Amino acid sequence: MAREMLGIDIGGSGIKGAVVDLSDGTFTRERFRVDTPQPSKPKAVAKVLAQVVEHFEWDGPIGVTYPGVVIDGVTLSAANVSKRWIGLEARALVAEATGCETTLLNDADAAGIAEMRLGAGRGRHGTVVVLTLGTGIGSALFTDGVLVPNTEFGHLQVDGEDAEIRAAARAREEEDLSWKKWAKRLSVYLGHLEALISPSLIIVGGGVSKKSEHFLPLLKGVRAEIVPARLVNNAGIVGAAMAADAARSLEAAR
Ligand code: BGC
Repeated sequence: MAREMLGIDIGGSGIKGAVVDLSDGTFTRERFRVDTPQPSKPKAVAKVLAQVVEHFEWDGPIGVTYPGVVIDGVTLSAANVSKRWIGLEARALVAEATGCETTLLNDADAAGIAEMRLGAGRGRHGTVVVLTLGTGIGSALFTDGVLVPNTEFGHLQVDGEDAEIRAAARAREEEDLSWKKWAKRLSVYLGHLEALISPSLIIVGGGVSKKSEHFLPLLKGVRAEIVPARLVNNAGIVGAAMAADAARSLEAAR
């Protein structure tokens, strides 16, 4: 039987879960999506997570992503969700609501783990950064395949402003920017990032990476190789499942 794990991705607009076949990242059952409660307060979100677990009749461990800093199960920032998450023992809250042992990690870190294992970062060494361009900008930094968690490169200050406010995919949509104008902003941001960490590869993810032909060729002044992500919408779910599996193996080895 395939080794499986339930991965759940908490996003600004939707909470999505799927049972993941860990050998290849495919879903063994159809993905299940519920709108993110507005406001996205912890208890309301935990309730939805319990609903996802119930939907899949799942009783094993789960992996869950969160769109902010997560250290040892505590959520420490909340750029695009309710501020009530800041300083919260979120892993404990989710575990209690779902009845499942929970691994909780940053959403971009989860997406990055999946991209490195099964997507555009497979077999790549050196410094690799995976960026998710959506409501905000998420980042996952890898050195020789090892994750440095919670890098938060979306909040680099560029021209006195949070980079994600100017260069996330949301900025393009809300300000109705042409691909050219948005690519210009993205080039400035990537130039800053490159000056700080000199990556050899930048993987661009998030929904907009499905349209990478519109903006990747327009990026200028960046030395690093830039490629679109391969897993796109499902990377968070797959990475969450992988992280929960790694936690399970670690626990078993103790
Ligand atoms: C958050 C990050 C998150 C990213 C994508 C940013 O605003 O600070 O933690 O990974 O959005 O959701």
